[in-house]
Amino acid sequence: MALPTTARVVRLTAEPDGLPAPEDFTVTDEPLPAPGPGEVLVRNRAFLVFPGLRTLIGGGGADLPLPNIAPRDALFGPALGEVLAAPGDGPLRPGDLVTHPHGWRDHALADAARFTPVDPDFPDPLALLSSSAGYGGLTRSAGVRPGDVVLVTGAAGAVGTVAGQIARLLGAARVIGTTRSPAKAERLTVELGYDAVLVPGERPFAEQLAEAAPGGVDAVLDLVGGEQLTAAVDAARRGARFALVGALDGQLAPGRRGGDAPAVIDGFRVVTLGLTLRGFSGLDHPDLDAEWRERLAGWLRAGRLTVPRTTVAGIDRAPEALTRLFTGDVFGTTVVEL
Ligand SMILES: NC(=O)c1ccc[n+]([C@@H]2O[C@H](COP(=O)([O-])OP(=O)(O)OC[C@H]3O[C@@H](n4cnc5c(N)ncnc54)[C@H](OP(=O)(O)O)[C@@H]3O)[C@@H](O)[C@H]2O)c1
Repeated sequence: MALPTTARVVRLTAEPDGLPAPEDFTVTDEPLPAPGPGEVLVRNRAFLVFPGLRTLIGGGGADLPLPNIAPRDALFGPALGEVLAAPGDGPLRPGDLVTHPHGWRDHALADAARFTPVDPDFPDPLALLSSSAGYGGLTRSAGVRPGDVVLVTGAAGAVGTVAGQIARLLGAARVIGTTRSPAKAERLTVELGYDAVLVPGERPFAEQLAEAAPGGVDAVLDLVGGEQLTAAVDAARRGARFALVGALDGQLAPGRRGGDAPAVIDGFRVVTLGLTLRGFSGLDHPDLDAEWRERLAGWLRAGRLTVPRTTVAGIDRAPEALTRLFTGDVFGTTVVEL
C-alpha cells in the first residue's frame, strides 16, 4: 500500500486577543516525509480537544512541561491512531492501534518511542483519550475512602464526567458536582449517578453547597478553582483532602492568559481542620497510566463506567470544537473524529 505523502495539520495563525476563535487557526495540507529509521507513521482516528491548549496558546504555560504555542506552530495533544508503517525490528505492525501525543493532524510521523500500543481487546479505545487525572486525583491526592462525601467541581467535562463515577466506585457515599449549565446538571444526575449537581450562577454557591452537603465534604476533586474552591474549603469537614487538578475558572477566562487562577483560601480553616490541599499533575505519577488503563478496561467491560463524549466530525472543524469548550457547548470528553 502506498503511504500518504501529505498530512492535514491544524496551526495557530495569530495571537488571539483573549480566548482563541476559529479564525485564529488554519487547517492545511503539508508534505509528509517517508518514515526514517526508527520512525512510525500513523493515521489518526481521533484526537482530544482539551482546555490546556488555551493555556499554551495564551502563553500561560511557563511552568508546564509542554511548549507554548505561537503563531505558525502546529497544535498537538493526545490522539488515537492506526499504524501504517513501523520498523520491522520493533513491536508495532501495520493495523495496530496506538495512543500518542501527535493529535491535531490526520497523520503522525514520529519516533517509535512516542507510541503506546492499545490492547486489541480494549473495550472502548476512544475512552483512552480521556485523561487519567480524575482517577489519579481521587486515588493519589484526595485518597477517597468508603463513606466519603465527595465534591467534583467542573463535573460535566472530560475529567469530571468520569471522576464522579470513579468516586462512587471507590466507595463514596455521596457525590456532588458542579456545572454552569442546568441541562448538564440534569444529565449528570440522571445518566452518571451524581447525587446532586450545583449550578453556581443560579444562587450563591456557598449556600447551595451547604444545602447539598449539610455535614460538609470529605474529599474534593477541584477542576475549576476560584470561588468554587473558596466555598469548598469553607464547607470542608475536619481532615478533608483536596486534589487540585484543574483551574478552569482562570484557564478559560477571556481576560487572563490561561496560566493563572487565583482563589481566596481561608488559611485558618486549613490549619484548624487539618485540611490537605495537594496539587495533582499526571506527569508526577509515571505509574498511573498503566494502572488507569487496566482499571478503566475492567470497569468498562463490567458496565460499571462510561466515558461520555462529544464528537466533532472532521479535522476542518477542530478549531470550532476548541471554542466550544469555552462556551460549554459540549458534554464529557470532546474528540475530533477523522
Ligand atoms: N493535572 C492534570 O494532570 C490534568 C489533566 C487533565 C486535565 N487537567 C485540568 O483539569 C481541568 C478540567 O479538564 P477537562 O479536560 O475535564 O476540561 P473540560 O471540563 O472538558 O473543559 C470544558 C468545560 O469547562 C467548563 N468551562 C468553560 N469555561 C469555564 C469557565 N470560565 N469557568 C469554569 N468552567 C468553565 C465548561 O463546562 P460547564 O459548561 O459544565 O461549566 C466546559 O464544557 C482543566 O483545568 C484541565 O487543564 C489537569
